[in-house]
Amino acid sequence: MGPTIRAFRPGDEPALYDICLRTGASGEDATGEYRDPNLLGAVFVGPYVRLAPSLAFVGEDESGVAGYVLGVPDTRRFEKACEREWWPPLRARYPLGTFPPNSPDDQMLRLIHAPPEASEDVVERYPAHLHIDLLPRLQGRGYGRRLLGTLFTALAEAGAPAVHLGVGLANTNAIAFYEHVGFTVVHRYEESQIMARPL
Ligand SMILES: CC(C)(COP(=O)(O)OP(=O)(O)OC[C@H]1O[C@@H](n2cnc3c(N)ncnc32)[C@H](O)[C@@H]1OP(=O)(O)O)[C@@H](O)C(=O)NCCC(=O)NCCS
Repeated sequence: MGPTIRAFRPGDEPALYDICLRTGASGEDATGEYRDPNLLGAVFVGPYVRLAPSLAFVGEDESGVAGYVLGVPDTRRFEKACEREWWPPLRARYPLGTFPPNSPDDQMLRLIHAPPEASEDVVERYPAHLHIDLLPRLQGRGYGRRLLGTLFTALAEAGAPAVHLGVGLANTNAIAFYEHVGFTVVHRYEESQIMARPL
């Protein structure tokens, strides 16, 4: 039997944190770059599966979970919920200065201590946002498209009219994929861009 897509279940978290790390260097394995293997997942996976578990879906094969898509319908509401429930214990566990200045771990700690807010022009038009990551063994087989489709249905049912995402300019594969599935660039930063589409 081929890989299947299913809803996130409690207990999937370690596999999702691992996928986040293994795709965390512009789509490539970031394992060697971080001293603490949990930091990427603590920023890009943990708050989503804690605060919006019904908008998380995974791709699974006989070897286990190999990909995920995570979303929230209302980015501003999510930012406020993270400020209340997700960031405080992480800030206590990982004080600023734990890691060498400007190291990858240190940069994650800066996000934990001062998470950037999505820009107003983006959230007013595209209030939902998402993250998607597949291990190499699941890539290039249509599962990215199918996982997105599953999430889009759920986000639309949750009332969201449109969705955005952030992607590093170095991740040319992901940018080409997003363009191919209907996203356009709506905001540019120095090293990343925001892409968006209606639902
Ligand atoms: C980027 C990613 C999510 C794409 O998922 P995927 O399962 O590999 O892509 P799919 O096989 O579903 O491709 C869907 C369509 O996009 C097209 N596509 C995918 N990658 C493409 C690329 N690099 N250039 C052009 N088209 C591309 C496919 O040809 C396919 O077209 P079709 O449906 O018309 O036949 C996945 O490769 C991945 O997780 N990469 C590593 C982690 C990452 O970079 N995540 C994004 C972080 S912002």
